[in-house]
Amino acid sequence: MSLDAREFRDAMGCFATGVTVVTAKSADGEKVGCTANSFSSVSLDPPLVLWAIAKNANSYDTFMAAKHFAIHVLHSGQEEVSRLFATKEADKFGQVPWTEGQEGTPLLEDYSVRFECTTEHRYEGGDHIIIVGRVHTMDNPDAEPLGFYQGKYAKIVTG
Ligand SMILES: Cc1cc2nc3c(=O)[nH]c(=O)nc-3n(C[C@H](O)[C@H](O)[C@H](O)COP(=O)(O)O)c2cc1C
Repeated sequence: MSLDAREFRDAMGCFATGVTVVTAKSADGEKVGCTANSFSSVSLDPPLVLWAIAKNANSYDTFMAAKHFAIHVLHSGQEEVSRLFATKEADKFGQVPWTEGQEGTPLLEDYSVRFECTTEHRYEGGDHIIIVGRVHTMDNPDAEPLGFYQGKYAKIVTG
């Protein structure tokens, strides 16, 4: 059975997610960042998370080589940050406050939760590569998260 790509994308869009920005630095010092909702927890012991990078992303080569990366779960006031890091804009980091983490990994200063990771595994995933990271540090100011559902940003209501 062959699936229609549009219908598959629409069906996957019914799985509500949060939104993250994943960042890393290349060997020659270039900072990269990519909006990603493929993020998921994997293991508690050891603490592992995953996300998937498209093979045609500009930042693909950097993430394939990076030993360190950071994942920022966005809060509900960060739609613009999500949009910025979902573009091919050359100077994404000129438009947001950031600092340096482990081995110079660029860290956004604003987020709901932030994880600093080392790359543990990479797996083939069709037109993506699945990157598994081990979490070394985390910071959780616990702001209301930004949601994403059916191709639109969404408010997460609890209780
Ligand atoms: C809500 C949302 C979720 C996304 N999730 C992913 C993802 O999980 N993996 C991915 O490779 N691209 C994802 N994208 C697309 C990338 O953010 C986009 O292709 C971006 O241009 C990549 O930046 P780069 O080309 O500079 O690497 C997502 C975009 C949006 C808006």
